[in-house]
Amino acid sequence: MAQPELDRLKAELIEAIAAARDLAQLDEVRVKALGKKGRVSELMQTLGAMPPEKRKSFGQAVNALKTSVSEALDARHQVLAGAALVEKLASDRADISLPVREGPLAEGRIHPVSQVTDEITEIFADMGFSIAEGPDIETDFNNFTALNIPPEHPARQDHDTFYLPAAADGSRAVLRTHTSPVQIRTMLVQKPPLRIIAPGRVYRCDSDQTHTPMFHQVEGLVIDEQTHLGHLKWVLEEFAKAFFEVPKVKMRFRASYFPFTEPSMEVDIGYAKVGDEIRIGEGDQWLEILGCGMVHPNVLKNVGIDPKRYQGFAFGLGIDRIAMLKYGMPDLRAFFSADLRWLKHYGFLPLAVPTLAGGLGAP
Ligand code: DAH
Repeated sequence: MAQPELDRLKAELIEAIAAARDLAQLDEVRVKALGKKGRVSELMQTLGAMPPEKRKSFGQAVNALKTSVSEALDARHQVLAGAALVEKLASDRADISLPVREGPLAEGRIHPVSQVTDEITEIFADMGFSIAEGPDIETDFNNFTALNIPPEHPARQDHDTFYLPAAADGSRAVLRTHTSPVQIRTMLVQKPPLRIIAPGRVYRCDSDQTHTPMFHQVEGLVIDEQTHLGHLKWVLEEFAKAFFEVPKVKMRFRASYFPFTEPSMEVDIGYAKVGDEIRIGEGDQWLEILGCGMVHPNVLKNVGIDPKRYQGFAFGLGIDRIAMLKYGMPDLRAFFSADLRWLKHYGFLPLAVPTLAGGLGAP
């Protein structure tokens, strides 16, 4: 190929480069000229077969052609890439004035019962209690008999028990009517000194504005060789102050009866209603929140603990009740009706974990 032909090829390629309207077209031109089987590359490949005197000058000429074509390609590439960017910027418009959509973490809520259970756990953990657990389906022995409520005891009637169908041996499991059977489970496998709480679900066949067939309790149990009623009173008062986040709480200990404690008491919290607001620690209204007492010697005997050597206290606290009181929720049934509007209003942010240092129900 002689110089005029090379010049013509160059003119043709430069024209094709100028005519490319976008980056894709330009790339086609590049492949046709400089690609493996491109026009310029093919010329390079003819060099090997040439006699040496021709090879040098022709080689220089083809190289010059290649350089010119490459430069023209680069220049056009810049122009077309710039134009492509301008076009993209014009079409890709983001409206930065739109509000950011909230993600699931901001949308989700922790149920007040879960929150209050965590708050209670935090307080008792700080006093050195550990957490014990038991199943919702319980044996009659753990739920009643071992707690000093034998089969014909009248206290069984108060419990509105849900019974499961009888097993082959005639025994009937129950949905636990209180968290007290966790006392039995704990004492059967651990030796004193014991200091536990056991939060969880309990069931009774009962339903109105302040009763639902399923509700929540937290059980407390302390067994050692010295613990007495004064300790029980102190622990409950400290708990109430921490839980309601007030420096003083009015508490009333009323003599009562439970088969598994002797003596037994019920505890009321004093409050005032100012408008729709409930103020803890003021006023002369009372709400019963728990039952408690010194563990009955029969209960200790039933689990193989010597009542002459060991003693202690127990309590059972209604979680839903004190949640209503602390966060001003008037209807217990709303707790379990799965109404998202209610949960959004009374629920807690998932990352706001209750701590004593931060204020339990702070955010
Ligand atoms: N188990 C009782 C109830 O559900 C509450 C209770 C009372 C628990 C006294 C106790 C206690 O541990 O000592 O009504």
